[in-house]
Amino acid sequence: MKIFLDTANIESIKHWNNTGILDGVTTNPTLLKKEGGDVKNMIQEICKVMSHGDVSVEVTETEKDKVYKQAKEIASIANNVIVKIPCHKDYYAVIKKLVEEGIQLNITLVFTLLQSLFMCKLGVKYISPFIGRLDDIDSPGTELIDKLRIMVDEYNFTKTHILAASIRHVKHFHEVLMAGADVATVPVAVLEKSVQHPLTDIGIEKFMEDWKKLGVKQFP
Ligand code: E4P
Repeated sequence: MKIFLDTANIESIKHWNNTGILDGVTTNPTLLKKEGGDVKNMIQEICKVMSHGDVSVEVTETEKDKVYKQAKEIASIANNVIVKIPCHKDYYAVIKKLVEEGIQLNITLVFTLLQSLFMCKLGVKYISPFIGRLDDIDSPGTELIDKLRIMVDEYNFTKTHILAASIRHVKHFHEVLMAGADVATVPVAVLEKSVQHPLTDIGIEKFMEDWKKLGVKQFP
């Protein structure tokens, strides 16, 4: 499973990219608002740092023709930009046209299996089911990933990848891995918690304690 960082914070992206475990980045208008500054510059910098992976950038227009035009403009920012478009019925024809023109899309705000089916039929690169927001309304988010995995495999939708989004905690991260998501986009706080284990820390401490007791002057 690929791991994307769900942030627009360039320092976090640089830090986590250095660890070697990152495969991409997802942003949205809320995450961009958190950082402030010149949006185009920020996206260009993120794309440069994350040059080996996909960087999702969402459209901010709402009217169909403007969404189409803006999607093309966003796609031209860098080779690794993936344009995020909400899974709204008004945009289906726009999505179809953009896919036909070779624009790589991440369809966002996906909440049902049927919405996912429609996007698979249109041949988009990613569909982003929002599992945290489903849990928020007492609908089991991870179950959607389970169903999606079965659908994508059963009907052989080879062009489309399942990108589990709206991951709120480590348990979500673990669950989408087990459900067979192709990608999980993870907030910094969740990734930080996922890479820690108290037994690893205690183990290192104990080994170092014993090593000191051994009194070796130089090794090797
Ligand atoms: C990423 O692509 C999504 O925009 C993001 O994961 C949404 O997360 P939230 O539901 O916690 O805002």
